[in-house]
Parts: sequence; C-alpha cells; structure tokens
Amino acid sequence: MILPIYVYGSQVLRAKAEKVDSANEPDIKSFVEDMVATMHNADGCGLAAPQVGVSKRILVVDGNDLADRWPELKGFHREMINPEFTFESEETSTYEEGCLSVPGVDADVVRPKRIKVRYLDVDFNEVEEEFDNFAARMIQHEMDHLNGILFVDHASPIRKKMISGKLANIVKGKIKASYKVRSDAK
Ligand code: NI
Repeated sequence: MILPIYVYGSQVLRAKAEKVDSANEPDIKSFVEDMVATMHNADGCGLAAPQVGVSKRILVVDGNDLADRWPELKGFHREMINPEFTFESEETSTYEEGCLSVPGVDADVVRPKRIKVRYLDVDFNEVEEEFDNFAARMIQHEMDHLNGILFVDHASPIRKKMISGKLANIVKGKIKASYKVRSDAK
C-alpha cells in the first residue's frame, strides 16, 4: 500500500519517534513493506516512519537506483528498527541532499563519513554493521527523521536564506510532487 508522505511544516516530522516494542507490533512487516513501496513509488532512496505519519523508530534505505553513479550501492537495501549509532567517524564528507518531505529543495550537508549502526531487522534479530560514504549518509539522513531533524536544519546560514521561500511555500501547500503528500501543520 502506498502511503501519503508528510511534508515540511508537519508536526509529526518534528517529534522524537518512539522506540518499537517488538511484543506489541504484530504488523511490523506489512508496515515496513508499505514504507518500501511508498519510497519506491516516490523514487526515493530512503524513508523514515515519521514521513508517513507514524512516530516510530523505523527507517528504510535503498541505494540500487543510485548504483550507476555509486557502484558500492548495488544491492544496498536495509530495513532498520530502533537503529542506534555505536560509532560516528570524526572524518566528515559534504554532499547535496534532498528529501521526499521537502520536495524541490536541496542543500549541502556535512556528516560523519563512516558510522556503525546497531538495529533490529524485521524479524527482530539484532544486527550491527558499519557503513561509509553514501550508504552512511543515507542512514544518517533517515536517523535524523527519527529525532525530529530535517536535512535543511543542517544547511549553511546562506543556504537556509536561499531556500526559505521554497520552504514557506511547502508549508502553505504549494507543492509540486509526483506522489501523494499530506500535512498536519497547524
Ligand atoms: Ni528525508
């Protein structure tokens, strides 16, 4: 099932998402399937549960569409429940990011180049993995969503000024997107 994506200005995007309690989540697999379908339908490479209005610590990432440019992303697909970073490198990288919740906006973001992340897979097995470069960036972007942070928050002051008009338009509902969007902005 394709879910509508909440856009900039929505309160659900600013909340700290709740940890998933495995005992109380019988439908987690079908929800994660919906998240993946929603991400693919919108041509996105990552999605966090708050972006579909569910304030829970779940993220999905898929780098296969980017493998032409970054061959290391071939086969990179993860579904993470309750992810936590156990390592973040001091070395950083800078790259332009976008977000399905902030259509038509991009900005350079500085992030640690390498991370280690511990998470539960959809069968609630604990996994710990290390990622670098673009894969690490994708996971960090989605992890931010679980903490109520959007990539535009990391933009430089001058970039923030440049995109402020576009952000204001999204809040007003002036959005061009090829997928269904929603807002709970007040
Ligand atoms: Ni995003």
